[in-house]
Amino acid sequence: MNDKKFYITTPIYYPSGKLHIGHAYCTVATDAMARYKRLQGCEVMFLTGTDEHGQKIEDKAKEARVTPQQFVDEIVSAPGGVLDLWKLMDISYDRFIRTTDDYHVQAIQKIFRKMYDNGDIYKGAYKGKYCKPCESFWTESQLKDGKCPDCGREVCDAQEEAYFFRASKYADRIRSLLLDTDFLEPKSRVHEMVNNFIDCEGGLQDLCVSRTSFTWGVPVDFDPGHVVYVWLDALFNYMTALGHENDRYDDLEKFWPADVHFVGKEIVRFHAIYWPAFLMSLDLPLPKKVYGHGWLMLDGGRMAKSKGNVVDPYMLAERYGVDTLRFFLLRTFPFGSDGNFSNELLIQTINVDLANDLGNLVSRTTAMAEKYFGGTLPAARCEAEADGELIALVTGLRERYEQQMEKFQFQNALEEIFKVIQRANKYIDENAPWVLAKDMQANGPRLACVLYDLLEAVRVCTVLLTPFMPGSCEKIFAQIGAEQDARTWDSAARWGALPAQVSVSKGENLFPRIDMEKELAELEKAVEQAKKALLPDVEVEPLCDAQVDFDTFCKSDLRAVKVKDCQRVKKSDKLLRFTLEDGTGTDRQILSGIAKWYEPEQLIGKTLVAIVNLPPRKMMGLESCGMLISAVHTEKGEEKLHLLIVDDAIPAGAKLC
Ligand code: ME8
Repeated sequence: MNDKKFYITTPIYYPSGKLHIGHAYCTVATDAMARYKRLQGCEVMFLTGTDEHGQKIEDKAKEARVTPQQFVDEIVSAPGGVLDLWKLMDISYDRFIRTTDDYHVQAIQKIFRKMYDNGDIYKGAYKGKYCKPCESFWTESQLKDGKCPDCGREVCDAQEEAYFFRASKYADRIRSLLLDTDFLEPKSRVHEMVNNFIDCEGGLQDLCVSRTSFTWGVPVDFDPGHVVYVWLDALFNYMTALGHENDRYDDLEKFWPADVHFVGKEIVRFHAIYWPAFLMSLDLPLPKKVYGHGWLMLDGGRMAKSKGNVVDPYMLAERYGVDTLRFFLLRTFPFGSDGNFSNELLIQTINVDLANDLGNLVSRTTAMAEKYFGGTLPAARCEAEADGELIALVTGLRERYEQQMEKFQFQNALEEIFKVIQRANKYIDENAPWVLAKDMQANGPRLACVLYDLLEAVRVCTVLLTPFMPGSCEKIFAQIGAEQDARTWDSAARWGALPAQVSVSKGENLFPRIDMEKELAELEKAVEQAKKALLPDVEVEPLCDAQVDFDTFCKSDLRAVKVKDCQRVKKSDKLLRFTLEDGTGTDRQILSGIAKWYEPEQLIGKTLVAIVNLPPRKMMGLESCGMLISAVHTEKGEEKLHLLIVDDAIPAGAKLC
């Protein structure tokens, strides 16, 4: 045991919609790190939560016709919400903060006032650009092609009375923090920060830290009408959740400064520049490290709730199991870089690493122990010189793994484990237990040794896999007969922690193989459905801004028309040919591209509305004299159309006005 403390955080999530697998990625990584530190014997504080203020939430709540508080409560606590997802994903957080919690709100007010009193917050006028979805202010020079440099969307002009934080005062200190220390990692992010925000034209700009154009935020208590900028409010969660400026908690001394903040790369700017500057202003210790991880991408773009290109973690966890999903996320993508999510990659990881390598090793080893020794190995062993290589590889694993975990290189740490798993599978083939078993009298002690070696290899790998797949590792431990003392960090560097006469039991197959082709087809369908579910139920086109003058409108001759006949147009999927009675005594022919929505027979005899004074047009060699009026909208992203069918009492030819 060591008495070290370890404080790790995730970004607090913005509950403006359902969380997706990209959010789960960061939280699973944080969870693996927290579990790894606990395994090492550290006292861990793992903080996560939700960042609930800001204009976007206010707007969304308005749209949903609920109060902002009701809106965020629903996303955080309702079934399928944030808390549910973390439960499902087996996230072992120690504390959960909501920025609408009273203690946090009051603490932010005190913090804001302190910075105002010390002169680092001052009142001015804000003029610039604002990106609503990102809740970010930008100067003209920071924009990329006139758009938000973070998300690429349109920005709007903004001007209002506002408070500013004197970030410029801290530019030199922040520059050396970034360039001369290991505060920000991976290192590749450092120059981007320094060049774009500190050593850019005009230098580090003061930051606008209050707003007056909306109310859903922490009120500035000495200036009604102003609410605290959501990033100042949100960043301090890392300290208020420990008791900074409040009595709710008292762990600040124990855990602050944080060992590491894990954050997505697009919010590195806030964590590596403004956050330390705020802390410098208040003379508070800085966190030891900020780690900016990459994005999970889908179809080449960042997976993001506002883009709708998201993968639903519930669906994947239900299909493959939570541990498999956790494992996939950290095994497949290097944490510091972007990674392209694909179903193929997911199934391949399951089949290769989990079914072929790990699953096979566990099930072959336990099955042979049952088959040849009734589940309990005899104490008598017969070691061979060749075992030394496997033993050395296994006992050295913990150190190699630790080196990678300390650098947050989860993929490499797992790679080290899988090298041992693959070696152990090869060891089975080299020693061919099934051949040894043919003469138990002569080979029994050797066979027992081979199986014991394998069980030990499985055990050590399982100890080190526990932070990634806690539930499955528990099951493997039970199958290989590993008691608590054979599951510890210490035991992972020690050969022989399993008892000599260990009892094993072949349990369920933990990682069944998946038929790639069949599964891909089904997944594709499920993903489409999930995407569809995110689309609005009904969407109609926004009203037209351009006005039409009355005389022009009156020129459109709208008439009731009766359908005498209706046929599909040959060789066309879209067109129906209508023969219509229009009150003139002569048949009128109109072609309409609505075959997708109507069978011709359904329409015969109906009274419709047509505009009859359009110039005739030829389509598929047929003349169309006018246009039928219909209503269009989308439903779950699918285009829908309804012809305007009116009362049969209206005679053909009646004018609509
Ligand atoms: O940024 N791949 O909240 P958020 C990887 N409230 N990570 C992703 C991702 C993807 N496709 N999409 C989102 C916020 N994330 C602020 C944080 S902290 C004081 C305030 C990550 O809900 C994203 O990078 O928009 C961020 O780290 C986290 O999810 C929360 O995003």
